[in-house]
Amino acid sequence: MKRFFALLTLTFCALILTACGGGAPAKSAGTSSAPAPKTDAPKAETPKKDAAPGGKRALVVYFSRADENYGVGVIEKGNTRILAEMIAEATGADTFEIKPAKSYPKEYTPATEVAKKEKNDNARPEIVGTMPDVSGYDVIFLGYPIWWGDLPMPCYTFFDKVKLEGKTIAPFCTHEGSGLSGTDRYIADTTKAKVTEALEMKGTTAQNSRDEAKKEVLAWLKKLGYVK
Ligand SMILES: Cc1cc2nc3c(=O)[nH]c(=O)nc-3n(C[C@H](O)[C@H](O)[C@H](O)COP(=O)(O)O)c2cc1C
Repeated sequence: MKRFFALLTLTFCALILTACGGGAPAKSAGTSSAPAPKTDAPKAETPKKDAAPGGKRALVVYFSRADENYGVGVIEKGNTRILAEMIAEATGADTFEIKPAKSYPKEYTPATEVAKKEKNDNARPEIVGTMPDVSGYDVIFLGYPIWWGDLPMPCYTFFDKVKLEGKTIAPFCTHEGSGLSGTDRYIADTTKAKVTEALEMKGTTAQNSRDEAKKEVLAWLKKLGYVK
């Protein structure tokens, strides 16, 4: 197990270097995905009036995985979800969770293996629920963990299903050392949205140092003009 963590850490470092070198992902647009099954999946919400200060309507879309994770042990609430909730609270945004139809393994190492295969296959794992109508939103805060130097593949399924061209996306991610890994560029390339400055934070900070995390979140929102 220790050797695996060491190996994965090395891989993260390699991924950071790759990201700094400007490597772009090979993503084929328009990969088909199965229709959403009838489940107790999250329902898309209708936009609230004047959700964010300045009359801007905001939606937080996020992917996050609880259970066993790197550096935090077994957690009840995913690291990225913690930030998503802070952003929604601060801006009055609606929220939409990207939920895979098939859950990832609860244990960390098996989860990394499934995720790695999905990335290598450029897969589009099925996601559940009615996709949100984004036409009424001025900004979409998009949250995700870094998985193998990229967004988790269910986020790309979301991009295939929801047209984001021309929208404003403010990305935020959690990671354990890789930083953004160029994912802000991947989002811009894939969605053709306008992408703002992103927020990146270690998952361990989001999970274990929530006051510090909140300060960073609020400073970022302020810089972007979404809170006063
Ligand atoms: C499948 C998987 C792959 C990961 N790959 C990376 C990585 O490439 N770089 C990195 O810094 N952290 C990586 N991590 C750590 C996560 O990015 C980090 O724990 C994140 O905060 C998890 O957020 P979540 O709880 O919202 O899912 C990985 C974690 C998992 C489960």
